[in-house]
Amino acid sequence: MKNKSLVSINDFTKEEQCRILDLAEEFEKQPRQKILDGYVVATLFFEPSTRTRLSFESAANRLGAKVVGFSDASSSSVQKGETLKDTILMVGGYADVIVMRHPREGAARYASEVSKVPIINAGDGANQHPTQCLLDLFSIRKTQGTLDNLNVAFVGDLKYGRTVHSLTMALSQYNTTFHLVSPESLKLPSAVKRHIKDNNLEYHQYTELAEAIPHVDILYMTRVQRERFSDPIEYEKVKDSCILSKSLMANCKPNMKVLHPLPRVNEINVDVDDTPQAYYFQQAQNGVYVRQAILASILGAK
Ligand code: CP
Repeated sequence: MKNKSLVSINDFTKEEQCRILDLAEEFEKQPRQKILDGYVVATLFFEPSTRTRLSFESAANRLGAKVVGFSDASSSSVQKGETLKDTILMVGGYADVIVMRHPREGAARYASEVSKVPIINAGDGANQHPTQCLLDLFSIRKTQGTLDNLNVAFVGDLKYGRTVHSLTMALSQYNTTFHLVSPESLKLPSAVKRHIKDNNLEYHQYTELAEAIPHVDILYMTRVQRERFSDPIEYEKVKDSCILSKSLMANCKPNMKVLHPLPRVNEINVDVDDTPQAYYFQQAQNGVYVRQAILASILGAK
């Protein structure tokens, strides 16, 4: 994985993905290892973020690397008209790896093609979010003891939710049965569903969340991605279509865990937070260990 860019989850083989998860387990036990002393990590966020940026910066700091970058492109020379190519070429001279979030689908792939240092995609539009995918796999393996043969529900905005796209691709390697819960207008794109079909995996589609809950080991909730809608009226029509409450989980499997990449808006009631099924805050914390593993692997320190 040394010097490899991570743009799509499929850029890492199944074996490489497993190696990241194993390494993340090591970092969870021993998070402070100064193995990246002298390295510089750049975080370029052209779109807002709390978890991805801060957990990458925390991961880099815990490994002894320094961090440079911006969390708001309006404070960078992009504001003056600098192209993405020029920005990437410049930052490649200042840092050993670039973590980039961008609103445009394909921006991370383009950056990886022009960059002299590896690019880690921290989310490109509605396309992919591979590091979130690895922390989701880590969280699923940790709570279920396996990634194989699970029933996983994706709930909410399956059209624009990039975390769902990456995780569908990854879980298609593990004989997953998919339960897809969304309003008609936010169904999983056919290009993503192809990964389920190509692997001859079972999938079920619902519009009512209550119908899926009794069947699943993992309930993966998502926010309706307001920023991807061109028409605010269309957003208003679907924004509250799938809301999880404690009472709705009354007949869930005993091992079921609720995941959410966060931020949530109101798709998970706060009464779920104190139930044994709620795992989303721990899931976000797992992001630090997984991102330590990703940085250490790409920079060749592990
Ligand atoms: N899960 C996630 O990508 O969160 P942020 O947008 O806060 O980084």
